[in-house]
Amino acid sequence: MATPSLQSPIAKKLEGKIAIITGGASGIGLATARLFIQHGAKVTIADIQDDLVNSLVKENEHLMFVHCDVAIESDVQNVVDATVAKFGKLDIMFSNAGVAGKSISSILDVDTDIIKNVFDVNVVGAFLCAKHAARVMISSHTKGSIIFTTSAATVVYGIVPHSYAASKSAVLGLCKNIGVELGRYGIKVNCVSPHYISTKLALDALGIDEREKAERWFGEGGNLKGVLLEEQDVANGVLYLASDDSKYVSGLNLVIDGGYSTTNVALGEAYKKLFPSGTTNQVMQILI
Ligand SMILES: NC(=O)c1ccc[n+]([C@@H]2O[C@H](COP(=O)([O-])OP(=O)(O)OC[C@H]3O[C@@H](n4cnc5c(N)ncnc54)[C@H](O)[C@@H]3O)[C@@H](O)[C@H]2O)c1
Repeated sequence: MATPSLQSPIAKKLEGKIAIITGGASGIGLATARLFIQHGAKVTIADIQDDLVNSLVKENEHLMFVHCDVAIESDVQNVVDATVAKFGKLDIMFSNAGVAGKSISSILDVDTDIIKNVFDVNVVGAFLCAKHAARVMISSHTKGSIIFTTSAATVVYGIVPHSYAASKSAVLGLCKNIGVELGRYGIKVNCVSPHYISTKLALDALGIDEREKAERWFGEGGNLKGVLLEEQDVANGVLYLASDDSKYVSGLNLVIDGGYSTTNVALGEAYKKLFPSGTTNQVMQILI
């Protein structure tokens, strides 16, 4: 048997696969579209920002853009049908489009317009993407992959607006529930849950105008020091969930947060405030 060469090129993980990425005109979705194409996939970007991707599409024959508001069922149906018409099938639905919604500080200020706006895109959109992807995957006997972008807000609370946290937890519930239904067809259903990244969505929601400023803050507040979460890191997680590397993985919430959700800084912070001269106790030294 020939010894495998150490020089052999890295295998493309999505050769022959067809994917739809909603919210693919920027941020996490765009980084994932680029990575999927590098790995041999053909990709449809579905978004409401037509102008952002038009030039990209002209440069790449493996990329198609379809205008799609994920909250409108006929738009989602159209993007799925247009993808199958152009590329022949659908293997991967990455339901990633999302909005942060109007930022309010208290449940007392919430009104139905705020809830409705966030839920229409984040939750109704996720339902519709799953519905129309499953429709064509089941009828063509494709053992596909459906992936949702949820958020670290599904595992740690009080860091985002209420309506956004509720919407992402709803999508996580949807993911796990339809994973049970679609398992019988060999369709896997998973979520990816990133911590803060300085995309337009996050910067607008936090009211921070400079990426650099936000990154300093996320770096300082993160658990894993000296590294910063970037769009590409989430794209790598999505590639894992989309490819056969995760062939027996379904119902997973892949949290990409550098361990932030495993921490509890409150006791340590309170100790430092109350006893600034510190401690020699070894357990306390880990905490603070
Ligand atoms: N950036 C973060 O800190 C962070 C953290 C956790 C989860 N997320 C989630 O990641 C996903 C991608 O966001 P991002 O951070 O890359 O931000 P982004 O602003 O770069 O991208 C969001 C994309 O969604 C599109 N979009 C918005 N409403 C749409 C609609 N109705 N129909 C179709 N497309 C629509 C936008 O046009 C945009 O291209 C979102 O679901 C977001 O909630 C982001």
